[in-house]
Amino acid sequence: MSIHPLPPPKEPTGLGRLPVARWFLAIGTLAGVTFAAGFAVIMTILGDAVALSQRTDVDAQIARLNTALLLVFGLLLACGLGLVFVVRFAVLKPIDQLTEQVRAVAGGDFDRDLHVDRPAELAELSSHIDSMRRRVVSAWRVASDQAEELRRSNSELEQFAYVASHDLQEPLRKVASFTQMLEQRYGEQLDDRARQYIHYAVDGAKRMQLLINDLLDFSRVGRVNGGRSPMDAGAALDRALDNLSAALEDADAVVTRDELPRVDGNASQLTQLFQNLVENAVKFRSAEPPRIHIGVRRDGDMWEFSCSDNGIGVNQKYADRIFLIFQRLHARDVYPGTGIGLALCRKIVEYHGGRLWLDGDADGHGTTFRWLLPAAGDGR
Ligand SMILES: Nc1ncnc2c1ncn2[C@@H]1O[C@H](COP(=O)(O)OP(=O)(O)OP(=O)(O)O)[C@@H](O)[C@H]1O
Ligand SMILES: [Mg+2]
Repeated sequence: MSIHPLPPPKEPTGLGRLPVARWFLAIGTLAGVTFAAGFAVIMTILGDAVALSQRTDVDAQIARLNTALLLVFGLLLACGLGLVFVVRFAVLKPIDQLTEQVRAVAGGDFDRDLHVDRPAELAELSSHIDSMRRRVVSAWRVASDQAEELRRSNSELEQFAYVASHDLQEPLRKVASFTQMLEQRYGEQLDDRARQYIHYAVDGAKRMQLLINDLLDFSRVGRVNGGRSPMDAGAALDRALDNLSAALEDADAVVTRDELPRVDGNASQLTQLFQNLVENAVKFRSAEPPRIHIGVRRDGDMWEFSCSDNGIGVNQKYADRIFLIFQRLHARDVYPGTGIGLALCRKIVEYHGGRLWLDGDADGHGTTFRWLLPAAGDGR
């Protein structure tokens, strides 16, 4: 997990474009020029007044006024210089420091402390910004640790599902085959009830084999043959239809399609995806022969695919349940299957960074599934 650097700051507009330092410089220069001009004018007037006066006491008064004015001007000059110093070192420099620190944090150095000592207002502002930084960073670290933990436990679970289902196959095969051998060899000595029990046992073992194989397929998504590359979605659909050709022919099904684009995908997984969806459309058909359409439209960086049929439909209240592993809406003797197909499809689509859902608008008029896959990035 990473925090992306912040986007560049928004440009100020109007008079705000001029930095405060420039404002101070401009106003300071104006004040300095006014001050110098005022000083020169007053000195000239005083000089003229001395030249005009004939009386010594007036001269003395003017000399005192002269000294007082010089003192006042000197004091004003000192205050002005003091103000420049204060603004320069007590305001502008700390702002520069803070800006530099904030820029470093925004650039990715999240452990950098934000701190300036003065003036008091900026010190308070910097301490608030710093506590905000610390809270954001610690929340981010917690989220990042949790994501890592989740990834680890997910991959452990997948590993577990794989190992468990793989290792369960062998003993199960033994149970099924020895029970069948029992029937073959001792069949004549058994009564009907015993034969029926054996039949149940074999049937149960076979069903468990199917479930285990489905679990294995499920746990393999993204682990085995998981690479993705630009590929033609139409070719994946062709392969899926080829695999289903007998079932499609039996049901008198017609599959139509839009022109399918290139996607960034895994060929064997996308074939599995199309195969499961079209197989469902055929299996859950109504009295009519199945009419299935594979559509596509562009959605930003993704392609939105759809698979619509004219079958028995799915009630919207089961829109989430049907995607859960081994969850089915019908008895096995009415529609065969283990209930892994849609869970597998969802896992495949999510592995591709997309989303698969039941389209709510199709309620009662067949079924439409929609899913997003990333566009190949090399055009159609
Ligand atoms: N096209 C569809 N029309 C009507 N119902 C559907 C359709 N697709 C799925 N369903 C419903 O969703 C449930 C789950 O589908 P899913 O493909 O996961 O399992 P399945 O087809 O029953 O078994 P499997 O795919 O393992 O052979 C189905 O049992 C069915 O009730
Ligand atoms: Mg299915």
